[in-house]
Amino acid sequence: MQKLLENQVALITGASSGIGFGVATSLAEAGASVVINYYSQPEPAEALAAEIIRAGGAAIAVKADVSDPQQVDALFEACRTRFGTVDIVVANSGLQKDASFVEMTLRDWNAVLNVNLTGQFLTAQAAVREFLRRGARPVSKALGKIICMSSVHQVIPWAGHINYAASKGGVQMMMQTLAQEVAPQRIRVNSIAPGAIKTPINKDAWESPEALQRLLKLIPYGRVGEPDDIGKAAVWLASDESDYVTGTTLFVDGGMTLYPGFEDNG
Ligand code: BGC
Repeated sequence: MQKLLENQVALITGASSGIGFGVATSLAEAGASVVINYYSQPEPAEALAAEIIRAGGAAIAVKADVSDPQQVDALFEACRTRFGTVDIVVANSGLQKDASFVEMTLRDWNAVLNVNLTGQFLTAQAAVREFLRRGARPVSKALGKIICMSSVHQVIPWAGHINYAASKGGVQMMMQTLAQEVAPQRIRVNSIAPGAIKTPINKDAWESPEALQRLLKLIPYGRVGEPDDIGKAAVWLASDESDYVTGTTLFVDGGMTLYPGFEDNG
């Protein structure tokens, strides 16, 4: 049986750990050749590429800082050199630098906005340019697919994380505006909004039993998510199974956005 993403090339930014690592793994399992972008951790990115190749797939790991336009261009050049083009781009790189509002430094505000929002802008822009440059391919109904990694915090305000919440709120409107602009070219743009997924970014929230118990109160479905939960959603959004879906945010959050505090009459 043909795999859903066979003969397609996927680029995943920030894929050396966490959700990006999980998404790269799932896209490769669905048959895509993958470009695993990393910024500071070559070892896990190279190890994942080697693992995918061992399993019969195709992969490379490429270093780039997504907040730097020249490095983003070089990243797409690496996709072209190795695989000819790219069909699926997951703008995933993201970080947190938490502080109370009065203590938030401009440096940390900028650092988070530069990667989480500007980085996705630069990645999506390079993706659209590449899709338009190479034209249609018989591998998919769409000219290309972009998936932005958002968060439940594109709608849930988050005290102590104002830079992060603002960046994800920005991702929502950027994604929708871009989706509107490029739909006539048959480019689909969507977001995934993960809730609490077990990754290094939120280790403090699930590592100790007490923290885990607090966290689970926010998740009606009763478990913390796994990177694989996001990976499966990404495979669907990247495939022709979702060909009529564009400009939407798929919340993969175990119900975190269902206002669980109101379940008992508010
Ligand atoms: C954040 C995590 C957090 C989750 C739910 C994510 O976007 O990166 O740290 O656990 O949202 O609050």
